[in-house]
Amino acid sequence: MNDTFLRAARGQPTPYTPVWMMRQAGRYQPEYRKIRERYTLPEIVRQPEVTAEVTLLPIRQFGMDAAILFADITTPLYGMGFDLDIVEGRGPVIHNPIESADDVRRIHLFSAEAHTPFVLEAIRILKGELEVPLIGFAGAPFTLASYLVEGGPSRNFVRVKSFMYAEEEAWHLLMKALTDAMIEYLSAQARAGADALQVFDSWVGRLTRYDYERFVAPHMERLFQRLSGLGVPVIHFGTQTMHLLASMAAAGGDVIGVDTTTPLDWARDRLGSRPVQGNLDPTLLFAPDAALERGIEAVLTANAGRPGHIFNLGHGILPGTPPDAVRKTVDWVHEKSEVPA
Ligand code: CP3
Repeated sequence: MNDTFLRAARGQPTPYTPVWMMRQAGRYQPEYRKIRERYTLPEIVRQPEVTAEVTLLPIRQFGMDAAILFADITTPLYGMGFDLDIVEGRGPVIHNPIESADDVRRIHLFSAEAHTPFVLEAIRILKGELEVPLIGFAGAPFTLASYLVEGGPSRNFVRVKSFMYAEEEAWHLLMKALTDAMIEYLSAQARAGADALQVFDSWVGRLTRYDYERFVAPHMERLFQRLSGLGVPVIHFGTQTMHLLASMAAAGGDVIGVDTTTPLDWARDRLGSRPVQGNLDPTLLFAPDAALERGIEAVLTANAGRPGHIFNLGHGILPGTPPDAVRKTVDWVHEKSEVPA
């Protein structure tokens, strides 16, 4: 097995910088769009063989150093009693959002074996096929809560923040329920064979540091504490989180995700030897070769050869990204970071 990604996640030296991309299986791939003509996203996820096929697509085509399980952060929410749809061009829409403390008390206890056996089965299939590590993942409690309280994707997060400020006790109950569920979900993924785990707190950067510390950090600390016993590296990811970097790192995670708006050298200087993942601007994959090449070199230069760097985009691959740019990015990261023998 190519363990370059796992070595970097543990802060060990590697012969070249490992690279994978968030949302590396998906809409930008014609082969994926073909599968989507037959199945919706939840239908793919409920069929382990199809999930495995989609997960493998970018690995076979582009040679990334890690695969991310194909699923969505909403996958475990159905079992917790939420009625939701993935709406084309919009994202997850929750038909019974959280509006009150009573709604929080109605959340079902989540069991990975009972509610997402197909995810665990997909992991087992993939472990027999992959020659690179498999990353399991889940949404972080705040990011999940944002969908559950807003009822769908949000721009200003007014509903979820209002709930957090006005119903502090119910808020902590909600965060506790989501944290418990994600501990169960991620632990089951590791037991099924996932080699690493990523916690996506995609929208947490919209909170002030004060609010993060008060409303989110205690739950994240418990989450990472419980995951630390699993023996697999855990990546802690967020976007627009420069102001939260120290707080997120203190909460936990073996690897800290660095988004596009946070300079990688600044993050590394502050995090000491803690491994980082990031942070190429995903829009550079639409740019002429010379600009893409410069962008990749800038990220590698910011890391300055320090061990413990996993190359990634600052956020996920955007729809419409040319597959050829994905291929070039993987190749150039490998070539430009190679340590002469
Ligand atoms: O990008 C991130 O911040 C990652 C965390 C995240 C995922 N899903 C993980 C994921 C978030 C915030 C979501 C919510 C979500 N789900 C959205 C975004 C909506 C918003 O608020 O802007 C959307 C559009 C979905 C639905 C969804 N999820 C689709 C249509 C797909 C298929 C692939 C694609 O891009 O079309 C997914 C798959 C998905 N969601 C993956 C992950 C890690 C697996 C794909 C991969 O990473 O290779």
